[in-house]
Amino acid sequence: MKLILLGAPGAGKGTQAEIISEKYNIPTISTGNIIRAALKNGTEMGLKAKAYIDSGRLVPDDVVIGIIKERLAQDDCQNGFILDGFPRTIPQAEALDSMNIAIDAALSIEVADREIVKRMSGRRVCEKCGASYHTEFKKPQKDGICDACGSTLVIRKDDEPDTVIDRLDIYHKQTEPLKSYYKEAGKLLAVNGQSKVEDTTALVLAALSEI
Ligand code: AP5
Ligand code: MG
Repeated sequence: MKLILLGAPGAGKGTQAEIISEKYNIPTISTGNIIRAALKNGTEMGLKAKAYIDSGRLVPDDVVIGIIKERLAQDDCQNGFILDGFPRTIPQAEALDSMNIAIDAALSIEVADREIVKRMSGRRVCEKCGASYHTEFKKPQKDGICDACGSTLVIRKDDEPDTVIDRLDIYHKQTEPLKSYYKEAGKLLAVNGQSKVEDTTALVLAALSEI
């Protein structure tokens, strides 16, 4: 299964990716998580990306395409993968096409903007593995601690309300056109992501079983 997850910031891409990844036994590649890890480790790429990521703007295409090329060449991706947060622009999608990797589907998780703003205010993420939680909708077993790896949960800097609104704007202008791009290629699937996490998972798994 070679899958792209599309959707606005906070639509639940990371949350659903975690579940699909376990079920299909394939890795999730989240460009957001890779960049945040680089930032935390103070690498050159991380430093270059900091101003973009903190303010919610897209990191330049060439940087992100370089990250993906390197990651997809690794052994664990050879039987499939989930791309969470890539591609996010038409040039990124074209770059992926030029890598000659046959994508099975691009699955769009659809959530209205007003719901997104609510979700982001309660999101907590693991500073180590990037797993997402929510203070109300997806609580960790132990307050402030990641169920998966035991590290501390933190608030993402780009989850401040003003930054979320800017990210949504960028999503509609630069990323949403990818739905038409993949529709034309006959690869687009869409599910409603407005209800509870488990309800969305049921829709996602049903859509994937059709591929
Ligand atoms: P990235 O990390 O990819 O952020 P994003 O796309 O903005 O998406 P999020 O991670 O915010 O949301 P999500 O859809 O994963 O939702 P989640 O599952 O956490 O990118 C961050 C930045 O990196 C970008 O702004 C850019 O600067 C840079 N970047 C990354 N990729 C790039 C690229 N390709 N090109 C250029 N720049 C790039 O869920 C959100 C919250 O809601 C959680 O708290 C969760 O628990 C909760 N939740 C989830 N589902 C439900 C539900 N059904 N009901 C209630 N709550 C729910
Ligand atoms: Mg995410």
